[in-house]
Order: sequence, then structure tokens, then C-alpha cells
Amino acid sequence: MKIATMRNEAEGRRVMQHASGDKRFKILEVFMKKYQFRQDSLIEILHKAQELFGYLDDDLLLFVSYKLKLPPSRVYGVATFYHFFTLKPQGKHTCVVCLGTACYVKGADKVMSAIEAELKIKAGETTPDKNISLLTARCIGACGIAPAVVYDGTVSPRATPEGVLKTIKQWTES
Ligand code: FES
Repeated sequence: MKIATMRNEAEGRRVMQHASGDKRFKILEVFMKKYQFRQDSLIEILHKAQELFGYLDDDLLLFVSYKLKLPPSRVYGVATFYHFFTLKPQGKHTCVVCLGTACYVKGADKVMSAIEAELKIKAGETTPDKNISLLTARCIGACGIAPAVVYDGTVSPRATPEGVLKTIKQWTES
């Protein structure tokens, strides 16, 4: 597991570089700043991270560890200890639907219902064949393109039930 092996600055820089193109990392950093990067704010920060990304994958945990100057093992330990944190979903694909206010008023609930009906799973679940995990987030910083959906880590604008079902169909047929 990558998280357990981050021991040096180079790995930290790699994660930071990876994070630089994704606005959600910026929002998370501003949030951490509000808490003055305090190590005892780890749980609040992981909550915010999950709100933004839908789940806490290795790179996200490394980012938090690097920013708070905490050992990766400590961050990983906390993330795995509490049941309300979701680590990398089991599905081959992940679909994160933003249910923040701006996305909600633009129809994110209809998008979510369409996916749930199509896949016959609820938010937070993975299809029995482990192909698709469905997750939710709360404002991923893309309100201008609401409703936003994140397909396998890529933010997609102005989601419609028809559009998401098309992508899901590609995943189920591939
Ligand atoms: S509410 Fe969805 S991006 Fe802000």
C-alpha cells in the first residue's frame, strides 16, 4: 500500500504535483488553513476531504499527511478506524454525484435517482459485479457547472440523467 511507504520529500512533492490540477485539493487546503494545519484537526479535515471527493483514496490521504506533517500511517490509521470514512471504493469505476446546494437545485437528485434505478444500488454502494461504485459529495467547488458528476476522478459538467446513464452504459458494456 502506497500510503504506508511514503517516507520522503520526493513522494510528498509527487502528490502535491498530482494535486495541483484539481480544484478540490485547493479547497481542502484552504479548509486546512482555517484550522492552521493543526494535527489535532485531522478528523475534521478528513470529513471535509470526503465531502469533496466522496471517498479517501491513497493520494488524498498522502496529501493530508504531507500538509499536516503527520506520518502517513497515522492518517491512514484514523481513516480506517472510523466507519464513517470510505477508503477507495471497491468498484472498477467510481461515479461521485455532487449533492451540494447548487448541484441539488439544478437537478442532481434526479441524476442520482436515475443512476440508482439503473444500477439497482444506493449511494455508497458498489454493484455486485464490482464494476461501479456510486458515491456522493457535498460541493466539489464546481458550482458554476452544476450539476457536477465525477467519473473516475474527472469532473464532468451539467449532468443530466440521460448523460450519466450513457456513461454508465459504456462502463457496463466495456
Ligand atoms: S454544489 Fe456541487 S459543485 Fe458546488
